Amino acid sequence: MQSNTAQLIKLTDYEETPYVIETVSLVFKLHAEATEVVSTLSLHPRARTPAGTALELDGDELKLLSIKLNGTPLEDDAYDAAPDKLVVHNPPTEPFKLEITTQINPAANTRLMGLYLSDGIYCTQCEAEGFRRITYYYDRPDALSVFTTRIEADKASNPILLGNGNPQETGRIDGTDRHFAVWHDPHPKPAYLFALVAGDLTCISEKYTTASGKPVDLNIYVEKGNEQRAGWSMDSLVRSMRWDEKTFGREYDLDVFNIVAVSAFNMGAMENKGLNIFNDKYILANSETATDLDYEGIETVVAHEYFHNWTGNRITCREWFQLCLKEGLTVFRDQEFSSDERSRPVKRIADVVRLKSRQFPEDQGPLSHPVRPTEYKEINNFYTATVYDKGAELVRMIKTILGADGFRKGMDLYFERHDGDASTIEDFIKCFEEANDTDLSHFSLWYHQSGTPHLKASSSYDEAAKTFTLELEQTTPATPGQPEKEPFFIPVRFGLVGPNGEDIAYSKAEGARVDGDLLCLTERKQTVVFHGIGSKPVPSLLREFSAPVKLEAGLNRHEQIFLMRHDIDPFNRWQAAQTLMSEMLIEMTNGDIPAGKDAFISALANMAEDENLDHAFRGFGLMLPSEKDIALEIGKDVDTDAIGAARDAFAKEIGASLYDTFERIYSAIEVSETFSPDAASAGKRSLKLRCLYYMAASGIEGSAALTKAHFDAADNMTDRMGALNLLVTWNLEGAKDGLQAFEKRHQGTALAMDKWLSIAAGAPNEDAVSTIRTLTEHPAFSWDIPNRVYSLIGGFLGSNTRGFHKADGSGYDYLAEITLHLDKNNPQVASRLVKSFGSWKNMNAERRVKAKAALERILNADQQLSTDVKEIVERCLD
Ligand code: ARG
Ligand code: ZN
Repeated sequence: MQSNTAQLIKLTDYEETPYVIETVSLVFKLHAEATEVVSTLSLHPRARTPAGTALELDGDELKLLSIKLNGTPLEDDAYDAAPDKLVVHNPPTEPFKLEITTQINPAANTRLMGLYLSDGIYCTQCEAEGFRRITYYYDRPDALSVFTTRIEADKASNPILLGNGNPQETGRIDGTDRHFAVWHDPHPKPAYLFALVAGDLTCISEKYTTASGKPVDLNIYVEKGNEQRAGWSMDSLVRSMRWDEKTFGREYDLDVFNIVAVSAFNMGAMENKGLNIFNDKYILANSETATDLDYEGIETVVAHEYFHNWTGNRITCREWFQLCLKEGLTVFRDQEFSSDERSRPVKRIADVVRLKSRQFPEDQGPLSHPVRPTEYKEINNFYTATVYDKGAELVRMIKTILGADGFRKGMDLYFERHDGDASTIEDFIKCFEEANDTDLSHFSLWYHQSGTPHLKASSSYDEAAKTFTLELEQTTPATPGQPEKEPFFIPVRFGLVGPNGEDIAYSKAEGARVDGDLLCLTERKQTVVFHGIGSKPVPSLLREFSAPVKLEAGLNRHEQIFLMRHDIDPFNRWQAAQTLMSEMLIEMTNGDIPAGKDAFISALANMAEDENLDHAFRGFGLMLPSEKDIALEIGKDVDTDAIGAARDAFAKEIGASLYDTFERIYSAIEVSETFSPDAASAGKRSLKLRCLYYMAASGIEGSAALTKAHFDAADNMTDRMGALNLLVTWNLEGAKDGLQAFEKRHQGTALAMDKWLSIAAGAPNEDAVSTIRTLTEHPAFSWDIPNRVYSLIGGFLGSNTRGFHKADGSGYDYLAEITLHLDKNNPQVASRLVKSFGSWKNMNAERRVKAKAALERILNADQQLSTDVKEIVERCLD
């Protein structure tokens, strides 16, 4: 066995390319197993490039057929070609043309990077380093060039030929069954934004006119028969385009905007210039197959990829260490879009739930890394919750600190100054500093220092002096490579809540920069004194979750319940309920009976019944922290069985004591007969299902029948899946029938069967691994389609905490086994799954021993590991 000795790539090693590729002209002669790619590059050396400097281009599993310089074939000793590299010795010192012909095999491309066939459709995925699997090139984001693409293919099986930019010409190829199309993209771009699609597709279309009057053709291409399921995506696209014009003054810049949905795709979607390619999960929806969450996800991802046109494409990254420059910013933009389209507080809660469940665990374990990392072995491993979601939080903090106008000024300057550039985080920050005449150097630490800061608060009230004193202390635990931490610049939005529930105004504040409801913490420990406080307030800190930190608010249960009832900030009302539930669940896990439980349960009932709050918010209010959340909160020597048992017991107790309340809410909510995915209707469905969750948990007579009736009566996927999940989770009578009925109804619809797989995978059961093994034999499952793997295996790792962390180590062994299995064909999928080991150090000794052994088994296996998997396993063991 050959060992994998991948290089460590470092930010500090960045250098410009010695040559510039001005234009690239590509010809693709598509054939399933032997596609020929002719690439003609116009090159010139940079002024400071010494004569004779070799031209070194990236490749990956390439076969070179021919190479010509200025039209003449190169002599053998003038170049070296390996599958992963092409070196041209002694290139001309004047501008020159290089014509490179390679041969690739799309049908055998199981990694789904580069050019591959998915269900008979040719498509590409080039980010981050897939273009080098097509032809030799400077496959790096700072090499911007103007692309022209000619695609040739069999006409009958590939009537549709799509490329980046604007369509130029099409025609038949004389004397053959083949045809061609030429596309030209006038905007210089890096190779990772290149795309091509060929296949038998159909589309839905719409005409769009930009704010300045430019007409654009919008098309969404899907496999034939799916066109009825693409309407919501088109609707989302049009709304995104309008929003970006209105909110950021950004217009679209080509004559066409094409989206294609494919079924085999490693990630969510890709923002290729003018030709977005999507995982079909984020395009296809109707009420029969998609849940409200799917509709929301589609809206978000369509918007996200569209917004990349400015944040990512017009302004791209200098190198991959700057990934958060486009991803964090674009996530922030899609979050803002959804907040404007739906309910802002509800969206904020949903985003924070996601951050805490995905990014916090990453940042508190062996895989922790800064939002802008400084080294990697495999860049695909850094498309993480930290880069994306924490990256978005950092942009949000900039807005919080500068205010909406200051933020917009900075963004305007960024677009104006860096349009056409491959930029850095430093460039980005500088725009906000200059546009606002301010210094953000301390704030920038957030990009470089990893880990989740802990913010601990305590307070006291002096009645005689009418002062309220708040002590805030921040600490950040050590993370890999960063043993010592500097204090962060933490913006804390706050209110001092008086006895009547209204915020108390202060006359003066000393000890920190305090401006209205914003307090900026800059040191490890700060004491802030508020003057003119007439009665003892309860501090409400970190309103709207103004910084990505773990807050220990220093409030007693009585005060938390008070905030849960009265805070004017809806986010903190929700947070107070979450904090209480989490604290109580931890006490129950330890075998204790929590103080104040009854008072809390009655406050929960009031929140659930409060007609002044919207349905979605009330649904979120009732949400118990997940077993994973509690495990993270406990942080060490975790026993997942104890957590699961405590959480089940708490749900059961809440369900039993509030059964009548839940029943009342459940029956009172009327959802309109015809399905609509709008936020209000979705909110109603979610609150109803949350009530049903507790009723199903209660074990009270009739609750199983009610759940089954909900399932049977469902006329949309949200209700059908929601109720089935409850039947299975609580192991109720009707679960088996429900699973069968669901299967019968949806067999043949892959995206619907994914839900069936994930429900079955998430169910707590004695022998979870053998359940999963059996399901891998089911016709609905396939190891080759990432969506199937993410649903079944990802569902097991992500939602079946007791099963995956089972004390006998069977879950860990199974993950080791499938990681090795998947790594042979698709390292990116394998690597994404193996990240689930990231929490192993928090487990108790019994579990740690088993997890460590499983990780070591991967590392020592008798097969060549991909760089992707090897890097993750090594970091986990470090
Ligand atoms: N840029 C894509 C996005 O919109 C994701 C690409 C992920 N690529 C990868 N190699 N993991 O977020
Ligand atoms: Zn993105």
